[in-house]
Formats: sequence, C-alpha cells, structure tokens
Amino acid sequence: MTISPQAQALLDRDAKAVAGIEKLRFFPIAIEKGKGSWLTEVGGRKLLDLSSTWTACGLGHGHPKIIEAMVRAAQSPAGAGGLSAVHPDSVGFAEDLLAFTPGEGERRVYFGHSGTDANDVVFRAARQATGKKRIVTFKLGYHGGLGVAMKVSDVHIAAGAEADPDLFLATYPNPFRPHVAGDDPIAASVAASIAEIDRELAKGDVCCLMAEPILSDGGMIIPPKGFLTALQATCRKHGVLLAVDEVKMGLGRAGVMHAFQLDGIVPDIVTFGKLIGGGLPLSAAVAPAWVIDGPAASALLTTAGNPICTAVGRQVMRTLVEEDIPQRSARAGKRFVSGLKELMKDSPVIGDVRAEGLAIGLELVTDKESNTPDRALATKVVYRAFELGAVVHYVGGNVLEITPPLIINDEEIDLAVDILGKAIADAAAGKVSDEAVAPYAGW
Ligand SMILES: Cc1ncc(COP(=O)(O)O)c(C=O)c1O
Repeated sequence: MTISPQAQALLDRDAKAVAGIEKLRFFPIAIEKGKGSWLTEVGGRKLLDLSSTWTACGLGHGHPKIIEAMVRAAQSPAGAGGLSAVHPDSVGFAEDLLAFTPGEGERRVYFGHSGTDANDVVFRAARQATGKKRIVTFKLGYHGGLGVAMKVSDVHIAAGAEADPDLFLATYPNPFRPHVAGDDPIAASVAASIAEIDRELAKGDVCCLMAEPILSDGGMIIPPKGFLTALQATCRKHGVLLAVDEVKMGLGRAGVMHAFQLDGIVPDIVTFGKLIGGGLPLSAAVAPAWVIDGPAASALLTTAGNPICTAVGRQVMRTLVEEDIPQRSARAGKRFVSGLKELMKDSPVIGDVRAEGLAIGLELVTDKESNTPDRALATKVVYRAFELGAVVHYVGGNVLEITPPLIINDEEIDLAVDILGKAIADAAAGKVSDEAVAPYAGW
C-alpha cells in the first residue's frame, strides 16, 4: 500500500525515538485527529475506528461533553493529584463510582492511571488484608502489563513473562472450543472449570480470584450463561474475594452497564480502566474498605486522582447514563452481528461470530470442518482492513476484536461490515503478501 509521505516521515521518527518495548503494531498507522467513530491519518485519509483504542475511546473521539469537562478542569487547576490534598472532583469521582458500582458493605475507591495499576493494587491489597498469598486467574487472561498484574496475566506468561510463584491458572470455559467432550460439552466445560476452581479454593490459601467477564485479549471468549454465577457461589463458599476486571468489557460495551451484570452477579471487587478516563489515563478499583483502606501510603502514584482525569471520569459516568449507552450498544451490536453472520454464511474462513452488545469477536479458521485457528490469516485481514479504511485488531491469535465506539451509527456499522467482508475475502484470496505483514508481529 502507499503511505502518505507525511505519515511515513512520522513512522520513521517513531522508529528512532519510541521504545519498542511498548509497541504492539499491526499496520503502519499514524493518526492526526479523530471525530466520532472516525480517525484521520497523518496525510488526511479517514479511517473507521473499530477498536476505539482497545475500548479506551468508547464514547468516540472528541465527545463534546468530555471536552467540556476536560477544559473546565484545566482552566481552574487544583494541583495535580490526590495523594496529599483532596479536591472536589477526586472525592466526587470516588463517591460517584461507589453509587455507580453495585456492591455491598462499606467500600472505598482506589484511583490510578491504568487498568494495570488498579489490578496490581487489588492483588497486593488482597494479599495484605487476608494474609494469604495465592491468586487465581484464568488461562488466556489479561490483567496488566506491569508488576503483579502482569505476572498473573496468562497472555504475558504464555509469551515468556515470569509468572507469579503463587498463581493458579484456571480454565475459562469457551463455548466455541469446549475443553471437555460429552453430550453437552459446554455445560461439561463449565462444570469442569468450577470443579477445578473449587478444588483450588478449598486449599484455604487463596486471597483473591480475578476474572474477566468476557475474556477479551484471550480471544473475545464469552462465557456460557451461569458461569459467573457459579464462580461467585464457589468463591463465597470458600470465603475468597471475587474481583471482576471490567477494564475492557465494562461501561456499556457489553449492552449492560457492567459486564458482570450479564450474569446478574455482584462481585466483591470491581476494577475499571480504559473508557472510565474517556481516553485520559484513569483507572479505579472499588473494593471493601477492609481490603483497600490501609495501610496508608502503600500504593502511591503522585498524579493519581488528578483533577482533569477525575473530572472527565465523572463526566464519562454521567454520559453513559444520560445517553443510555448500554442500550445503544445492545441495539447497535445486534445490527453489526447480523451483518457479520451474513458474511459468515458465504465465507469458508469465518468460524464463529459472537457478541454481547458491541463486544464482538470474529474467529478466523483455516476451514469450517476442523475450525483450526488461522493466525496468519488474522494478521493479513487486519492489514487489509487498514488498507481498505478501517482500524481493527486481532486477539487470541486469530480472533478479530471488533469494539467500535459505542456511539457508532447504522450507516457506519453497514460500512464496517462491508469493509470487513472485503478484507477477509481479499486476505483469504492471497491479496496481502507475507512481506507486507512481516514487520507487524502484533502479538
Ligand atoms: C481486561 C483487562 N484488564 C486490564 C488491562 C490493562 O489495562 P491498561 O493497559 O490500561 O493498563 C487490560 C488491557 O488491555 C485489559 O484488557
């Protein structure tokens, strides 16, 4: 493909200046600005955003209410953080989040900068508060890119990162690829996962189990109905804290405000990130006071709770409610999925389309008889989609993660389906060379 000279120049500068350690690249994209569901490349080409920066820009780009909140906070600066002083938006954000997040008992809010630090603090605090060391997370799970959060994330461990020595990785039931055979393999897989977790928790040394309500980075795996409920029952039976990581799939994306509501559960701990900051660095953990209210000064980030991010976080929550974003996401998701299922009928390489709201996964396979994951094809499909004018990534090796802004309209959805259909057909027909995608290892 031809990249504009301006974009190429910026990409060249990036290669020389920015550390590769924080790059996860799929195609040569250089972005200048955005509006609604659209991004503008350096050089002027418009791209339909089907990622929302991995869901962080879930209210779309340049939402007027978010800009207004950001500017208001910037115009009357109240210092830069909440460590050693309080200000109305830091306290207000915590109060709003407590009211916004279902839960029981006396709770407190930790705020940080990224999903990673919110989860990291939860693990450390759970260990400290319970005096127990072991953590349970899931195979193919993702909770962060640093510290304990990274060491309990199987996506990183599988790629060679050091695992936490006190970690047990449980099996997340996958309806498309059940890990147990039988008359009803999906039910059998749920039962096997719960039995496995029950055995681990019964040992009495687990401080916390953290689950994603939809296993997104692991391949957009939507658990069978009832799994989260059974998980909660098992945690309660053994007195183990259940933490749900809503960083990516929460806040309206799954057609409900909180993705754990898909199964009607109320976790002990909930973590937020990405969309909660409307594109700014903001994260939060809502947890029982006895877990995160002390010791003081044991999780310090100077600019945590800073006035601009917390003002925006409050506005994000208000906007989600005022604009009825969960309902919009549920409705838009139905239209998107019906378009993708039409594509699936005629495509020999689309093995599965699954979704809750606008959390959509499309699984690419070598053929529909074996359903063998086709990782090479996924790299080429996302590259071709970029050439054709859309931004989409893959997760779990072979699954397109389709997470557009939650304000996407019908016309944009139809265009997205059209682009994805062409990208899949073109890539499967060999229109993307191995050389073109070679520089983009993705993950
Ligand atoms: C479920 C989940 N938890 C936590 C994180 C970490 O968030 P961040 O990258 O903002 O630190 C991610 C990031 O992809 C995620 O998907």
